[in-house]
This record gives sequence, structure tokens and C-alpha cells, in this order.
Amino acid sequence: MLSSRQLFLNHVAQTSPFPLALEVHNAKGIYMFGSKNKKWIDIISGIGVSNVGHRHPKVIKAIQKQLKKYMHLMVYGEFIQTPQVLLATALSKTFPATLGESFLDKKNENYNADIAQNATYFVNSGSEAVEGAIKLAKRFTKRTQLIGCHNAYHGSTHAALSLGTSKEWKEPFLPLLPDIDHINFNEEAHLSKITEKTAAVIIETVQGEGGVRIPEKSYLQTLRKKCTETGTILICDEIQCGFGRTGKLWAFEHFDIIPDIVVAAKAMGGGMPIGAFMASQQMMACLSDNPILGHISTFGGHPVSCVASLATLKVIQEEKLLDSIEEKHELFKKLLSPKTTKAIKEFRGIGLMLAVEFESFEFLQKVIAHCLDLGLLSDWFLYCDNSMRIAPPLIITKKEIKKACKIILEAIQLTEENR
Ligand SMILES: Cc1ncc(COP(=O)(O)O)c(C=O)c1O
Repeated sequence: MLSSRQLFLNHVAQTSPFPLALEVHNAKGIYMFGSKNKKWIDIISGIGVSNVGHRHPKVIKAIQKQLKKYMHLMVYGEFIQTPQVLLATALSKTFPATLGESFLDKKNENYNADIAQNATYFVNSGSEAVEGAIKLAKRFTKRTQLIGCHNAYHGSTHAALSLGTSKEWKEPFLPLLPDIDHINFNEEAHLSKITEKTAAVIIETVQGEGGVRIPEKSYLQTLRKKCTETGTILICDEIQCGFGRTGKLWAFEHFDIIPDIVVAAKAMGGGMPIGAFMASQQMMACLSDNPILGHISTFGGHPVSCVASLATLKVIQEEKLLDSIEEKHELFKKLLSPKTTKAIKEFRGIGLMLAVEFESFEFLQKVIAHCLDLGLLSDWFLYCDNSMRIAPPLIITKKEIKKACKIILEAIQLTEENR
């Protein structure tokens, strides 16, 4: 009989010739469990997904409760589905203002989160949320030009791919979307490319796959100003940095800006697939008119994913998960600083969105392999292969952080000894 591994390689379409091929039987909290008592600390949260940990009991309970009522009923947008209504209402209240204020007929001077005029369009993934957001921006502004950033990652669909700059990933799939331009992330001089012809600028509030790059506050504020002046829509991609990853629910809150459209996915579902783009009701309304059904989805806002997402949001808010993030950040910083070992060249990050830089990809690959043997799963970044990704579930305790860092340091030592 063929092994599970062989069947996986034979029949599950592969994304690379060297998949990790780790076989996990069970996962809970920060841990994943395999056969023969194998246990790994998941220090990357399934790439930015399990912010409240694997199989959080409150998320499971919400899913089980919903399963007793209904799963799919109807394509997105037609029926009043309570899970969607409750989640959209809760998400609307998470924003410190009405999104896209500069586009509103009347500014909401006395902003009240309870009557915030924000709307959420539910989809199934991050790439799909990006697709919806740029369609909305084009439809609303009646312009076509889109601007993305160098080294950005917004997903793998044609439009999302067009917004990034990786030649290696783009060229085999040309032609992609026309009328796209790019600016350097965090470089004010490039903002002059934004003009009255630009429909939208899309930016990861904190770049993820670029290796955790944090922009200057002044840069994002100048970007915001430039977008407002030119009538350009500012889309913040919070798919990786949102939902608490940086220590605030939305990363843009660190920079005192309000985007016009926010895109989210990954951690939003607490382990279930869901994505969303969010904007003011006024802006969002244009997708439902001329043409009607301007954007549609069969599974968008799946009720089971929506209850999981609402439970996740409640865990973050009610258990005050974000209050301890700064302290946890400082502990990682202390234990994995370049002062600890000369193998670490740089420690970067915000909240629990961290990167530890080494001399080369070859060195990091060996460290990661040793980590796996020692019981910790890590990774590098798509566009930064000399840096280790550290993005643990936000529920990680200080004791667990010490344990994880001990493993990483031991793996570094083993790599150095076997040079
Ligand atoms: C910042 C960012 N945007 C978009 C995406 C695409 O999300 P998905 O893989 O759900 O399509 C990702 C995924 O890694 C991401 O990190």
C-alpha cells in the first residue's frame, strides 16, 4: 500500500518540488502533533492564520453551534444570514472612524462606532479580497491606474500578482493587468507618481513577504495626504498584519491614518477560510448598481466561517489578547537580538510580526531544518529568504516564548558547528 506521503505527492497538486510534507495529526494552541509523539511549536501560525491558536475552544464552540443550524444556503448577498450580519456589524465598530472619510459627502465629525457607516463585503481568501477591493476602487473613481509597492505580496491571482513586482513570479503569466505602476515602499519621493489618473494605491500597512518592513509614520501620513489630494483610494492590505498581529487590531492604527478600503483574510477566520474588503457604505454601494451584481461570490461569507471569525474577534477583544503583545515582543527581541549570537544579523518587527535575519538563505535553511528536528516549525519569506519568519499565535505565553527561543538558538549553534 502506498504511504500517505506518496499519495500526497502523487495526487495532491504540488506548489513546489520540495514541499515540507509534514504530517500533522492534531493541533492545539501553539502546538502541532505528529505520529510517534512528535510535537512542534508553530512559530508561524500557519503563515499568519492561527492568531488565537489552533482550535481555540470558543471558535470550535461557535462552529459547532452553527453546524446545528445551517451551512451554505444561498450565494452571497441575497439572504439575511445572521452570522454575516453580526460579523459585519462587529467589524464596522472596530474602525476608529468611517473608512474613506475624504470621499464622504458629509464628514462624520462626531464619529460614533455604534453607528459607523462601514460595510463589509465577504469573500473567501486574501487574493479574492484584493480583487474585490481594486474592482471597487476602479468602479468608484472611474479611473483605471493602480499603484502597488515594490516587494509587495497581495496574492496569487492575476490581479493580485499584477500589483507586486516579482519578475520571477510574474513573467511566466504575462500579460497581467494593464495600467499598473509601482512605487518604492516607504520612499516619499515616489509618491509623486500618484496623480488624478490613479484609481488606487494598495499597500501592506506592514510588508509581510518582503521580510517584515515597517514604514515610517510620516511616510504613511504623506501617502494618505497625497491620496486625498488626488482623489485616489488608499487600500491597506491588512491580510497578514491585521487582526491583532502587530499588537493593534488593525496595523494602520499605529500610524494614525484611516484607509479608504481595508482588506483582511488569514487570521480573520480563526482557522476557517474567509476574506473581506471593507469600505464606507457609500463607497461600497457602487458595486450593487450599474451593473447590478458588480461583484459576486457563491461562498463569500460562509456562515460557518463567519461565526468562527466573530468568535476569533471576540477572543481578541474580550480576552484582551493585545494588551500583552508589546511585552512578548520585547522578550523575543531580548532573546533573539544580534547581541545573543553573531549569527543573527538583525531583529525586525512590530508586535508579534517578526523577522530574524541571517547571513544567507543557505544558513537559514539549515537553522530551519534543525528547528524542525528539535520541535519548532518556522519558515522564511517569499521575498526575503535570509530571514526567519516568527509570527506565533498571539496566545503564546512568556514561558513558551523562552522555550521557542531556546530551540532556535540551539538550531543556530548546531548550524554553526556543522559548517
Ligand atoms: C499581505 C498579503 N496579502 C494577500 C495575501 C493573499 O492571501 P491568500 O493566500 O489568502 O489569497 C497574502 C498571503 O500570504 C498576504 O500575506
